[in-house]
Amino acid sequence: MHQKQLLCIAGDRSMAAGYAHALRDWKVRVVGTLGEARRALCTDGYLVGLLVGLEEVEHAELDHFLSQNWQQQWIGLLQPAALSSARWRQLVGDHFYDFHTDPVDPVRLGHALGHALGVAQLRAPSPAPLAAPAAAAMIGNSAAIGRLRAQITRVAHADAPVFIGGESGSGKELAARAVHAQSPRRAGPFVPVNCGALTPTLIQSELFGHARGAFTGAAADKPGLIETASGGTLFLDEVAELPKDQQANLLRFLQEKTIYRVGSTRNIAVDARVIAASHVDLQRAVEQGLFREDLYYRLHVLPLAVPPLRERSADVPLLAEHVFRQHAADRPKGLKGFSSAALEALRQHDWPGNVRELINRTRRAMVLAEGRLITPADLALADARRPPGGAALDESRIAAERAALLASLERAGNNRSRAARELGVSRMTLYRLLDKHGIAGK
Ligand SMILES: Nc1ncnc2c1ncn2[C@@H]1O[C@H](COP(=O)(O)OP(=O)(O)O)[C@@H](O)[C@H]1O
Ligand SMILES: [Mg+2]
Repeated sequence: MHQKQLLCIAGDRSMAAGYAHALRDWKVRVVGTLGEARRALCTDGYLVGLLVGLEEVEHAELDHFLSQNWQQQWIGLLQPAALSSARWRQLVGDHFYDFHTDPVDPVRLGHALGHALGVAQLRAPSPAPLAAPAAAAMIGNSAAIGRLRAQITRVAHADAPVFIGGESGSGKELAARAVHAQSPRRAGPFVPVNCGALTPTLIQSELFGHARGAFTGAAADKPGLIETASGGTLFLDEVAELPKDQQANLLRFLQEKTIYRVGSTRNIAVDARVIAASHVDLQRAVEQGLFREDLYYRLHVLPLAVPPLRERSADVPLLAEHVFRQHAADRPKGLKGFSSAALEALRQHDWPGNVRELINRTRRAMVLAEGRLITPADLALADARRPPGGAALDESRIAAERAALLASLERAGNNRSRAARELGVSRMTLYRLLDKHGIAGK
């Protein structure tokens, strides 16, 4: 069986020996400094860590270390005196899964370590899907994204123009970059051009460049975007936005593979592969006379369709976890991930803004979340699991919990250890409950 692994950071290495009984089921690696711990975490992915006798380590340094290594579950063994310091209490509240004070009860410590490992395993990222390295940035395990990946690999090896359709925010640009990255042109440039954002009067010189003196302000020869894509890939995003006269110029380039800079009669050969994308139905635009039919056929040689996110809802939790990890630096300390209610709400939402909307909602939730886990409310989504009328029941449960806490504290004369014992919860849980109910500590 795979032995449970534990990283033990001990201010004095010999201290770890005192807990041998509680740790007998574990393969323990003892390190003496945070630097050694960092190296150990890099080489062997520990999920659970034990901090022993670190009261002497500078608070800010420890805080920084624990903030960086938030994916592990940490348990602290502390001198009782440490808890009389507000900074230590905060450190424990922010980062620790559990803590124990001397004298440590080995049975309780053994249980806490076991629980911590269970929680860490639940939260550990699922193994990344196997994908060609270039497409690794495209997250998803759904059949729909699998088909898209396979199509990308196929079209990447051809040199004909690719047309990518799909709703806004669904990942068209990402798909275009993946095509380039897997193509024989991968060492060449990838030049994105947003056809909707070019200044109408300057489009032609932006795309094709200009000769010196071609117009007022043209002080020197300047290559255009198409030319800079030579040897690589030109990505024409929102190509339906291109005005008709520029559509004609683009068509000429696609037919002849040469361009003229504005104000020049010199013919320049450009070897760039073209990938175009649009969120509008280009065929409809042709029927409405807004887009040249001949250009449509030139661009539409190898079509790719990026499915909307609501058609691959199985990927939503994966994408959300990916965004969470990518922006881990923005999250408040102690925020560990998504509650299951939040994951369910993400799955149920229909994502009109696709992956871009998912990124925005997740990033906002990471900033706003107040607890250890992101809730549906943090994501500005309804709790899909709450049955109609369930809100009232929930509220009365919360009120009852609060009343029980207050009553127990009063009976215990505000002694938290006694209150915790009476309530049958660990002190850590009691602290969490007090925090949740905003019951101020003394
Ligand atoms: N499958 C995916 N995995 C990871 N990130 C994605 C995925 N699809 C889209 N994104 C991200 O979502 C955002 C919007 O994607 P983008 O390609 O710009 O969409 P579009 O061009 O269709 O509007 C980008 O930040 C992109 O990196
Ligand atoms: Mg785009």
